[in-house]
Amino acid sequence: MDGTAARHHATLMAVARGYQRSQALAVAAELGIADLLTEPRPVVDLAAATGTDAPALYRLLRALASIGVFHEDDEQRFSLTAMGRLLRRDHPWSIDPAVRMFCADYQWRAWGELGYSVRTGGNALVHTLGTDVWEHRRRDPAQGELFDAAMRTMATSYAPGVLAAHDFGKYAVVADIGGGTGAMLTAILAAHPHLHGILAEQPEVLPRAARQLAAAGVADRARLVECDFFDEVPTGADAYVMLRVLHDWPDDAAAQILRRVRAATAPTARLLVIDAVVGPPNEDPQTAFLDLMMLVSAGGRERTEPEWRDLLASAGFRVGTIVPAGPGRSVIEAVPD
Ligand SMILES: C[S@@+](CC[C@H](N)C(=O)[O-])C[C@H]1O[C@@H](n2cnc3c(N)ncnc32)[C@H](O)[C@@H]1O
Repeated sequence: MDGTAARHHATLMAVARGYQRSQALAVAAELGIADLLTEPRPVVDLAAATGTDAPALYRLLRALASIGVFHEDDEQRFSLTAMGRLLRRDHPWSIDPAVRMFCADYQWRAWGELGYSVRTGGNALVHTLGTDVWEHRRRDPAQGELFDAAMRTMATSYAPGVLAAHDFGKYAVVADIGGGTGAMLTAILAAHPHLHGILAEQPEVLPRAARQLAAAGVADRARLVECDFFDEVPTGADAYVMLRVLHDWPDDAAAQILRRVRAATAPTARLLVIDAVVGPPNEDPQTAFLDLMMLVSAGGRERTEPEWRDLLASAGFRVGTIVPAGPGRSVIEAVPD
């Protein structure tokens, strides 16, 4: 085998074994290892603190150290790398809930049926669990809470890019539709002290959102509204944010949501869709695999720029600017037509 073929062989082998890294990271997250590494610690301490088998835990941590999550010193003590620090649960961008959510049992089972989705175009999660992902999380509140926490820390990490991409200072009232527990709304309100906000969400999410907005000190400027965005969206905002909402839905459902938003939107108001815009072929695996995730779990899709223009036009919006706001996400400004 020549050098190039050997490199390709190694790359494909790493892809084929990718689930081993996912699961190793998930187990370390479940055990809360990162929170225990306030200083370099020997594995026997970590095993005692987590109730695990020390030799097996050593093998897990050695594997994760080999890919840069932890650092092992000459005396087999482990510490956090700069990357590993993102696993700490107190980090504002903590990746811990996302790791545990993406590797939760229901996700493994749905992804195990990716072939079903590819053969039929159907939703593997519905095929596997007999219910859609939102109903599944409703029935399992711990998973619902974990999903909200994952969305929250991811949205917190996106906020600087979104605030740089769009001037929210020109508005008086910003509504976040399907805004989760309010991480993006919090960042917008914190950056613009004159602004008021509306957070529209499903009823089970609102108590968690209320706690988060209060903890962030912006609750006095935020109104929480119970909302099913297929039925009705609150009026009274001059900007409507939809962050990672429309990609969850196929075109017909996304168009219905957008028609509800359009009905609530005054002629001078703006809709700000923050989602991926699929680019040219052979690029951007982050967006391409996010799209596969939508196929398998939520049932939605990522969209190209022409697809976004068509979808928004079908609900009475014209696309204004599209401004990149970070890897795999853009602010698509839409104007009522
Ligand atoms: C992928 S999450 C994005 C959350 C938030 N915008 C963010 O990016 O962090 C989609 C959100 O849509 C909300 N949602 C789903 N179905 C809904 C419905 N019918 N009405 C209102 N919100 C809904 C979910 O509760 C969830 O918070």
